[in-house]
Amino acid sequence: MDFRNIAIQKPELRALGERLGEGRIRALVFDFYARMSSDLMIGFFFDGKDLSEISNLQTSFVLRAMGITSSYVGRSPANAHSELPPILSGHFDRRLQLLDAALTHGGLSPEEREVWIGFENAFRSAIVQPNA
Ligand code: HEM
Repeated sequence: MDFRNIAIQKPELRALGERLGEGRIRALVFDFYARMSSDLMIGFFFDGKDLSEISNLQTSFVLRAMGITSSYVGRSPANAHSELPPILSGHFDRRLQLLDAALTHGGLSPEEREVWIGFENAFRSAIVQPNA
């Protein structure tokens, strides 16, 4: 799959949230963070970080985007990464690959995975270092 060309589909994202429900979304994001933090390529970004805190914030961010809750108390993705080493496009693609793996493991169909990956991909330009 070429992750770069996956577009965000907002109504489908809400429908996916409704189908999955909060408990399943929380478990999927948790598995996704476990995969990222132990990954050879992007695991170092999470060294010394409180994984369960970031995973909870990300869950809350996704739940709001899926229309399940109405509030999110964390920073915006554009601001949340400013103190980290530069995030390059290869890191971003790797993250989407690991998301795809976590969602596949969790039993989502290819169409459902594309909806969630399209949502994450929409933040590419806000997070990836310019010209990277
Ligand atoms: C390769 C890409 C990415 C890496 C390596 C990464 C890594 C991280 C790390 C290490 C933190 C903790 C920062 C800290 O505590 O100082 C964090 C926070 C966060 N990230 Fe990412 N991230 C990536 C992409 C994304 C994307 C695409 C989104 C949104 C769709 C996102 C949403 C968040 C949120 C919501 C937080 C918590 C905000 C807060 O601390 O208030 N991240 N990320």
